[in-house]
Amino acid sequence: MNLTVLGAQWGDEGKGKIVDMLTRHFSMVARYQGGHNAGHTVYVNGAKFILRLIPSGILHPGITCVIGNGVVVDPQALFAEVDELTKNGIDVGNRILVSDKAHLILPYHRDLDLLSEARRGERKIGTTSRGIGPAYEDKIARRGIRVGDLSDPKGLEQNVRDNVTARNRLVQESTMEWKPVLEQLLKHAERLKPMVRDVSVLLTQAMRDGQSIMFEGAQGTLLDIDHGTYPYVTSSNASAGGVATGLGIPPRAIGKVLGVAKAYTTRVGEGPFPTELSGEIGNRLRETGSEYGAVTGRPRRCGWYDAVAIRYAARINGLDGLALTKLDVLDGFERLDICTSYRCAGRALTELPSDIGQLAQCEPVYESMPGWSAPTKGAQTFDQLPEAARKYIARLEEVSGVKAAIVSTGSERDDTIVRNDVLQISEFGFQI
Ligand code: IMP
Repeated sequence: MNLTVLGAQWGDEGKGKIVDMLTRHFSMVARYQGGHNAGHTVYVNGAKFILRLIPSGILHPGITCVIGNGVVVDPQALFAEVDELTKNGIDVGNRILVSDKAHLILPYHRDLDLLSEARRGERKIGTTSRGIGPAYEDKIARRGIRVGDLSDPKGLEQNVRDNVTARNRLVQESTMEWKPVLEQLLKHAERLKPMVRDVSVLLTQAMRDGQSIMFEGAQGTLLDIDHGTYPYVTSSNASAGGVATGLGIPPRAIGKVLGVAKAYTTRVGEGPFPTELSGEIGNRLRETGSEYGAVTGRPRRCGWYDAVAIRYAARINGLDGLALTKLDVLDGFERLDICTSYRCAGRALTELPSDIGQLAQCEPVYESMPGWSAPTKGAQTFDQLPEAARKYIARLEEVSGVKAAIVSTGSERDDTIVRNDVLQISEFGFQI
């Protein structure tokens, strides 16, 4: 049985830890979208690993990690990550496989990302400036360069020359030379070659052989290019629909869908965020939760749990369960607010509006619950939680319309509560 694990909020939900702890039940972990804008933090025995492009399953020996066609690959970033893992004693061997249909991020994409943000001025997206958007732009405009193109130096030369020339025309002050770009790409091609596969064939064969695969999302549902808070989104389909197109597998193969959500909410970058708290409580969540971007170090915007957003994510993705993370960050709060609906221009809204202007004007309608003083940190069973924490989770489940299959109570693998009944884990043939 396969499993999809994806973000149910605006990214940074703690997907890395959840994927890492579930990995041992699968033989492959596959990324289907995004690029090295992701920053999946995993702690193992006190050591911290930040995975950007490589699936979070890599920390487990023997697991094959797949980068699908829906991902945009910066070869330099990929190799830097491989080198970093190797330096830290992780044997990546030949366990990383990359789709021949994945598009490449080239140096001019990074420049264009910065330029596009500068040109937007006040209306900037707040991107990670990794060249993600411009690489996807080239893909959609049918002029992108794919991993598979690296095996044809002649065609590659033509493509690089055309693309760099076009970039220079677009950016008046740019005089980028195409030859160094090509030379660097040809160097990368050598190292990338043994990793390149037809990922659709690979995954289909694995499924025929009875292997189980985990699909790992990056960013989150509300950053999805189609279903997120457009235009303040990333440039790919982070939601469940992206799994099939981003890997070349049938939609019915994605298995059960687990949405990862914090017990509160964060967002990094610009765009509306109805439950954002700018005062003391927001600062406390940021400091206690170490809410600083894993990739850019930017402080994250913090706020209360938004059940409207989670209900939306449950609908878009067909969530079978939630992995509720960072519960321990709420330890010691006297009261906790839960946003159950919005009020917009005097009207009550229970659904997330599509219109960004309307969303920006929405006021959260809160329900207040008592907090708890006893720590939840490190709890491994539901019974170990203080009663108020259990009630808080039960209320989150009610107002979100989806059950918490996993509750994370700290950054280490073992700081986790698993409720086997929720996901009907037995269907997967294993007990967590
Ligand atoms: P881009 O993906 O770099 O184009 O950035 C677009 C938006 O998505 C910005 O608001 C980023 O802050 C946000 N974003 C991109 N990747 C992540 C992530 O992994 N976590 C949280 N936000 C992200």
